[in-house]
Amino acid sequence: MVVAISPGKIILFGEHGVVYGKPCLSVAISLKVAISVEKSDSTKINDDPLNEKKHSYISKAIEKLWKEGGGVSISTFSQIPSASGLGSSAALTTACVASLLSMNGKFSLPEVARKSFEVEYDVQKIASPNDTSVCAKGGAIFVSNKRGDNFLWSIEKDGKEWYIHSVELPPMKFVIGNTGAKSKTPLVVKKVEKFVKQSSFAKELLEEMEDIVIEGKKALEKNDYVGLGEIMNKNQKILHTIGASSREIEKLIDITRKAGAYGAKLTGAGGGGSVIAISDEPEKIVKEMRSRDCDAFVVSVAKEGVKVWS
Ligand code: PMV
Repeated sequence: MVVAISPGKIILFGEHGVVYGKPCLSVAISLKVAISVEKSDSTKINDDPLNEKKHSYISKAIEKLWKEGGGVSISTFSQIPSASGLGSSAALTTACVASLLSMNGKFSLPEVARKSFEVEYDVQKIASPNDTSVCAKGGAIFVSNKRGDNFLWSIEKDGKEWYIHSVELPPMKFVIGNTGAKSKTPLVVKKVEKFVKQSSFAKELLEEMEDIVIEGKKALEKNDYVGLGEIMNKNQKILHTIGASSREIEKLIDITRKAGAYGAKLTGAGGGGSVIAISDEPEKIVKEMRSRDCDAFVVSVAKEGVKVWS
């Protein structure tokens, strides 16, 4: 039997833009997904027969990576709320791909990142390799269309190439607020795509977001929480304008800022899901948010990415 554990993620800056090759900065978080895989006569997921719709990511990973006869019996356990912008699908995919690659004797982090991206892309029909790469690597990553310092690996698709770099992070904590509304990633990504294809204004906004990601990376490297918060607020304004926000997200962000956060924004595709906020007193912000009936908690950085034991 093989067991794999993968962290979830938050996107600090640059979601949506990264689908078009723009830069993005994301962080692996302390919420995790665990999966165990063993050979079996038939394929079962948590004791149920494999269902392509219900188990879309696992089913696609098996289709791509399990070439032996017979099946696999898979059990999953997740601490990550689903459809919340916290990387539940990416972590599940990465853990599943890592397990199957390890069973085939082909495990390496770049291979896990590449194959996991292919799985996400095939299921969602539109995606960037950001989420699966940060789950594979752990810590923080910077994705760009140019190769720079601390380069890890690159991933290509449909004429686009994403260069993944590692970013040094101090031990940080983030406030998470969950709206409780599901974030339907493929729907929101397609909605934004329509806007980007039809409007030069949307393209200008994505270019503006490019500068924000670079500015945010500098603030992060300087450990400047106040600067980070301001830049997160600027990023949120753009995400709102391109149609990725929602009434629930804006309300939660407002509560978070009033509770004393330096800045807050949605994480992931949006349209629901979670918001992230920065403060040097994250527990205090969470307490304030909870007193206003919000589902809020603190996460720390997961230094390690996906791990496999056999
Ligand atoms: O909604 P999530 O957590 O799967 O994040 C999606 C992030 C996007 O940039 C919107 C899409 C992508 O694949 O990068």
